[in-house]
Amino acid sequence: MKIYKVKNYDEMSETAAEILAAQIQSKPNSVLGLATGSTPIGLYSKLAELCAAGRVDFSAVTSINLDEYCALDPGDINSYRRFMNDNLFSKINIKAENTHVPDGVAEDIAAECARYDALIASNGIDIQLLGLGHNGHIGFNEPADEFVLPTHCVKLDDRTVEANARFFENEDEVPKHAITMGIGAIMKAKQVLLIVSGEDKREILQRTLYGSVTPKVPASILQLHNDVIVVSDVI
Ligand code: F6R
Repeated sequence: MKIYKVKNYDEMSETAAEILAAQIQSKPNSVLGLATGSTPIGLYSKLAELCAAGRVDFSAVTSINLDEYCALDPGDINSYRRFMNDNLFSKINIKAENTHVPDGVAEDIAAECARYDALIASNGIDIQLLGLGHNGHIGFNEPADEFVLPTHCVKLDDRTVEANARFFENEDEVPKHAITMGIGAIMKAKQVLLIVSGEDKREILQRTLYGSVTPKVPASILQLHNDVIVVSDVI
């Protein structure tokens, strides 16, 4: 595990952007596993700047996102497809057809999960970007009795619904289910880039990196991955 201790959110974003840029420079057709949430917003805007400055070319890049809410239309302001379009895809020269987010409104959710796993297997993820939930979730792999390996539909933890309510009018509007990439695909990514910022994440990051490996803290499985980079201001 490689750990970068940074001063603040901005330095985290800058450092992570440089890592992803270097990945794309060394392999222009890289497959990036991407995340949503507040943590990567700064990183995405740095990547957009690097692209505008001609330092990174996304034309051959493929992206595969971690998760999507169930029952939110892709155009909904709170869908993760919309988040990615607004915060990154519309600002870089990635081809729309090379961007992938689970289809949260698929009629057959089980079939959609299987399709997503086949997509991940056929592309292979070079580097998987992860944020960290307050309960230790990665993607929407919530604390559970065992690690769930395939892409699956999950009932969101009360704490996750509460945390994500900040983006909605009120807590009742937060979808209670989501499709998430499973722990299997995350662990198969060649490299993992975990970004964590803010005092409120200090304790869970400590448990993730130095506590027992347990599905009660899903991110703790990363201790068993052989190529993890952590960039954080609370380490
Ligand atoms: C989002 C995702 C989640 C977030 C986590 C942290 O695609 O997979 O695991 O990374 O909930 O969210 P923020 O960054 O909003 O604190």
